[in-house]
Amino acid sequence: MSDLLTVAMPKGRIFEEAADLLRKAGYDLPDEFDDSRKLIIDAPDAGLRFILAKPMDVPTYVEHGVTDIGVAGKDTMLEEERDVYEVLDLNISECYMAVAGLPDYQKSNTDIAPKVASKYPNFSTKYFKEQGEQVEIIKLNGSIELAPLIGLADRIVDIVSTGRTLKENGLVELEKIIPITSRLIVNPVSYRMKDAQIDEMVERLAAVVEEE
Ligand code: PRP
Repeated sequence: MSDLLTVAMPKGRIFEEAADLLRKAGYDLPDEFDDSRKLIIDAPDAGLRFILAKPMDVPTYVEHGVTDIGVAGKDTMLEEERDVYEVLDLNISECYMAVAGLPDYQKSNTDIAPKVASKYPNFSTKYFKEQGEQVEIIKLNGSIELAPLIGLADRIVDIVSTGRTLKENGLVELEKIIPITSRLIVNPVSYRMKDAQIDEMVERLAAVVEEE
């Protein structure tokens, strides 16, 4: 492990909000942070090294200890169930997980398990099991809303933020499942070895989150 505290940052829609939070917490992020294709960016003055990862992979990097800390959506935590500590709700990238489908969707009475498409197969399997409903989960990697439109699945399980994607594709929300925000997550070994640095980051970020 390096002397710098390593942080896995999600690329994409969470990135800007997470970077904004870190800057407000007093971490001097280098300019290349905002407009670069680099995947590893050092901020030696802040004592930090950032790894820019796909959101769904952040808990994997943190669990394996290749980064000490990560910013991960609760959705990825629920899907991945990694062995990491979730230390702070950053209260950013607010959305929720929902079941959606076509407006005329009706539960079928046949014995054939209906198909549900999702980027979150583990979470969806668990959810429908808890509901006592037998379904067949079809894993997709994105554009989940396509599935009911082209007959691949009866319903989808996906995150809803503004609701625009559902609306513009003629889908409706059938059930709200759980609210989602991004979390600060920590590798358990790092938490023992670098507790002072990590506690300081948690405190600084917690103060910003409280103010927001
Ligand atoms: C997410 C999600 C929905 C959409 C919801 O997709 O999977 O499709 O955003 O946002 P909205 O309610 O504001 O429309 P994302 O943009 O991450 O792309 P993806 O389809 O490739 O997963």
